[in-house]
Amino acid sequence: MKPIVILFAAAFLIGSDAAAQKTQTLGHMKKASFRNNTLQIDTDAGKAMITVYNPDVFRIRITREQFGNDFSYAVVGQPEPTEIKKEETSTQIKITTATTVLEINKKPLRFTFKTPDGKVINQDDPQLGTIWNGTEVFTCKTLFDDEKFIGLGEKTGNLDRRGSSYWHWNTDNPHHDNNSEPLYASIPFYIGLHSGLMYGIYFDNTHKSYFNFGASQARFSSFGADDGDMDYYFINGKSVEEIVKHYTFLTGRMEMPPLWALGNQQCRWSYYPDDEVLRIATTFREKKIPADVIYLDIHYMDAYKVFTWHPERFANPEATLSRLRDMGFHTTVIIDPGIKVEKGYETYEDGLAKDMFIKYPDGVPYQGQVWPGWCHFADYTKPAAREWWGAKFDELVRQGIDGFWNDMNEIATWGQATPNFVQFDWDGKGATYRKAKNIYGMLMAKSTFEGTKKLLNGRRPLILTRAGFAGMQRYTAIWTGDNQANDDHMLLGIRLVNSIGLSGVAFTGYDIGGFGGDATPALYARWISLGALSPFCRTHSAFNTKDSEPWAYGEDVEDISRNYLNLRYRLMPYLYSLFREASLTGMPVQRTLALDYTHDPRTFYYAYQNQYTLGKALLIAPCKSTEMLTKVFLPDGQWYGLYDDKTYEGGKEYIVESPLNRLPVFVKGGSIVPVHPVRQHTGEDPGNTLEVHLFKGKGQHSFTYYEDDGLTYNHLDGRYYERTFDYNGDTGELTIRAKTGQAPSKFKDFKIILHGFDSKVSTTPAEYPDDKIYTRTGILPDGFDYKVNNLYKSMLLKDEEIKIKL
Ligand code: GLC
Repeated sequence: MKPIVILFAAAFLIGSDAAAQKTQTLGHMKKASFRNNTLQIDTDAGKAMITVYNPDVFRIRITREQFGNDFSYAVVGQPEPTEIKKEETSTQIKITTATTVLEINKKPLRFTFKTPDGKVINQDDPQLGTIWNGTEVFTCKTLFDDEKFIGLGEKTGNLDRRGSSYWHWNTDNPHHDNNSEPLYASIPFYIGLHSGLMYGIYFDNTHKSYFNFGASQARFSSFGADDGDMDYYFINGKSVEEIVKHYTFLTGRMEMPPLWALGNQQCRWSYYPDDEVLRIATTFREKKIPADVIYLDIHYMDAYKVFTWHPERFANPEATLSRLRDMGFHTTVIIDPGIKVEKGYETYEDGLAKDMFIKYPDGVPYQGQVWPGWCHFADYTKPAAREWWGAKFDELVRQGIDGFWNDMNEIATWGQATPNFVQFDWDGKGATYRKAKNIYGMLMAKSTFEGTKKLLNGRRPLILTRAGFAGMQRYTAIWTGDNQANDDHMLLGIRLVNSIGLSGVAFTGYDIGGFGGDATPALYARWISLGALSPFCRTHSAFNTKDSEPWAYGEDVEDISRNYLNLRYRLMPYLYSLFREASLTGMPVQRTLALDYTHDPRTFYYAYQNQYTLGKALLIAPCKSTEMLTKVFLPDGQWYGLYDDKTYEGGKEYIVESPLNRLPVFVKGGSIVPVHPVRQHTGEDPGNTLEVHLFKGKGQHSFTYYEDDGLTYNHLDGRYYERTFDYNGDTGELTIRAKTGQAPSKFKDFKIILHGFDSKVSTTPAEYPDDKIYTRTGILPDGFDYKVNNLYKSMLLKDEEIKIKL
């Protein structure tokens, strides 16, 4: 075997095309030198640079040329001081950290990552390794027999991506189906699972990129791109959580969203004129269906010109926005990147005069057609243009807008063929559309976020984008783009959100009810039940579709919608705490079972692959609108039915009833779920009492409850209130740790509501003596017709640690 390897690796392979299309391997190491935690290697064909970021994270850069300026829009994490051991023999260099061993084979140059006890986690394909094919670059990795692949952001297909290939090329793709490629956003990050081991690969290259997990071949897994360097981060971890944490150390984490952005949101293309918007908002209040946000789609503008209002449809925007505000509504407006080419239109004239647009190589600004007709497009890769764009929101903010929806930013143009040679500034370094397309949407969202944040003067904006790239979580929420009103799209949306969550973006949702086409009442009922238990909850539908408000599908569906939205509002303290966790650690709010039940093969079964947990406590088993019986997999642990507190043993599969008013939802034993009474919007006072529901279970459980003012950045100066609940199900000890943060709680007291405990549970200390019977509906709001009796303990919310024995 060996001589063949050497021959193959040392030679430049002559491809069948002209010289420029040569296929070329990395070749043998010629020399190597360390500078601190960076190893530089010269090979026959190029150079490699290995940097240890921390014990688990290694960066590998490979180029055929000189390493250029080290610049990334996605990565913000810097190498941390890390103790490493360096060893060298005639055949290899070895770098060892506390958790990871990297063995670098010299001839040919290949990388193998191992555990300290010698198990291979990930390794280059021994023959192919990293290769170039013309301008393309690929790295091929050994494909393990039992290897599964998860993540890769907004990708269709199954939870396990084994046997499939994907590419990243942000595309307006409204007619996609279960397997179409590509969609709107690119996150070149995936997680490999095999032999009880796992790792992440983040490929930091914005060109069109390719991922092959054993499609059309079974020899290797690979990632690569049309151009640019091979520049990837290998991430070691003992759990998927740990890998996501490292990945978001690299690409950043979200800021706390405004609390109102977690509320129910209502959109359509388009609500107008102003009276219609007010009528929709008023109907929510009259019908007592909670909602926080209403959207204005493209018809609010004058001839679709961004930063304008239609003179008749919205003659007095300030007055309309103020009436909405009085009803507790925040208003979000759509802002697309296309700037209408029209003499006298301020944004166009100003952008042209200041040289803010992307251009052809001859300096002529590029024009593409979109809603307004011919448009120019701001160059968000240019720092001055980002500033310029951000400042343009001045008037909208002054008028009362605090939500900003960036759409069509792939860039979508009629014809979908913006030429690859259109020029971008790339922060002064220059690039073409080939390199800039995938990052454009994220940089638009960054400009919008940074600009509006400044203008809002201490208040948090909501930014929503359609296109994005790795790291977008620092600036924006994302929705999965245009979907269709059918069951397949509903379930696909769930897998997309599960996958995007694994890829660092926690604040994610889909168009509830389906964007294109008309939902049946049953479909809407199921979709809103699911959406109410997802991170970003917004109904949206296209022009020319039937009305799609919760009351537009008949009384039964209206009741179901109200019930599930009420449940969402009741869960707001829980949900907000999950977002706090996302902001600190990058954890998704909506968690595929692959996060916590990684090694159970049933997690990946076709029947169960859509299941997820909201946080760790609530398990949701999505099912079609036509399925009245559903197969559910309850992983290890103890579980409770949401609607009846019925107990289920975990590690088993069940068939449960799933009528439209009962989406299958289960609560994990040991969970702590804080809730407050239903409110019509998050701006309403939540009352004096926080209810903390504790579900009896075995083992150790912990939940951190978090509150802040929900609006400003004062929490960054310590103005927040946080308590960790530790529950030991084996000893029956519940410890409510002393508060952290300098703000008082909104609540004066709290009730601990016990699920699954005997009626004679005794508690110490004696100052919390009397068990009372709680005859409300557990976590459920009124409206669900089930009542369950639970014990509860009522107590004043003291700041110091409280210990209770149950
Ligand atoms: C795009 C968006 C959709 C929006 C429409 C009109 O299709 O994805 O959400 O309603 O444009 O602005």
